[in-house]
Amino acid sequence: MLGIKQLGKEEIVSILDRAAYWESYPKKVTDVLQGKFVANMFFENSTRTRFSFEVAEKRLGAEVLNFSAAASSVEKGESIYDTVRTLESMGIDAGVIRMKPIGLLAELAQKIKVPLINAGDGNNEHPTQALLDFYTMRKVFGEFKGLTVSIIGDVLHSRVARSNVYGLTKLGAKVKFCAPVNMQAPELAEYADYVSIDEALQSDVVMMLRVQLERHAGGMIKSAEEYREHYGLTVERMQRMKPHAIIMHPAPVNRNVEIDDELVEHEKSKIFTQMSHGVPIRMAVVERALV
Ligand code: CP
Repeated sequence: MLGIKQLGKEEIVSILDRAAYWESYPKKVTDVLQGKFVANMFFENSTRTRFSFEVAEKRLGAEVLNFSAAASSVEKGESIYDTVRTLESMGIDAGVIRMKPIGLLAELAQKIKVPLINAGDGNNEHPTQALLDFYTMRKVFGEFKGLTVSIIGDVLHSRVARSNVYGLTKLGAKVKFCAPVNMQAPELAEYADYVSIDEALQSDVVMMLRVQLERHAGGMIKSAEEYREHYGLTVERMQRMKPHAIIMHPAPVNRNVEIDDELVEHEKSKIFTQMSHGVPIRMAVVERALV
C-alpha cells in the first residue's frame, strides 16, 4: 500500500466494504493474524496513525512491534533502509512506515520482500488517512457520485490532500481546492480547480487542512490571526455552509488557526468520527497485506 494513486476504484471500494465488516464485527479481538508479526516503524511523529494501526493489528490478533526512531539506532546515524532491512531479517511479516523522505518508500518496496504500508511519506501520500476519510463520507452521504468536496488550506505540504484528490476523483466526487497562492500545488491542477473561500464553503464536505508549520521554510504565513481571517473555518463561515454539509479535518488541529475551537466538536464536525474510523480501515488494510 504505497499510495491511493496506485489503487483502482474497485480496490478502494473493497477496502471500504471490508472496513464496514470490521466496524460491525461483534468481537474486539480475532485470530485472523495470529502468529504474524507486524512492525510499526515511525520515523516521524504520530498519534492517530500509529495508535490506530496498533489497535487494528492487535484486534486482528497480530504480534505488534513498535519502533520509534528517537529511541533507536537511527539516532546513531543508521539509515531508514538499514533499519527496515534489520527488522525484516528478524522475521517481521509486514511493516507500517511513516517517514519524511519522498520516493524512498517505493525504493524500499523494491528491495524489501515483506509487504509495506505507507503511514504517511513527506508531502507525498497518506493513503490510510484518505481511506478513512472516504469511509466517513460514504457513511454520511451513501455514495461519491455527485458529491462535492472542498479541501481548504495548506495543499502544498499536504499528503492528505494528495491522497484524497487522487481517490475522490476516481470514486466520482468533484474536488475543489482553496489555498493561499504560496500554499497551492501546481502539479495537482489536473485534479481540481482552486476556488475562493466563499465558493469552497458551498460543498457537501468542507475539509480543512492543518497549517503544517513544521514543513514551512519560514514566513509562509504572516500570523495565525491573518491566516484565520482569510482561510480559517470560523463560526461565521460555518453558518454559510449548506445545512447538510459536514466538516472534516485529518487532525491534529491548530485550534483558532484553520478551524475555530467551537467547531472542532460541533454537530457538523466529523473530526473524532474520522479518528474512530481509522481502526476498521487499518484492520482492512493490514489484513489485505497479510491474508
Ligand atoms: N492524521 C494523522 O495522520 O495524525 P497523526 O500525525 O497524529 O498520525
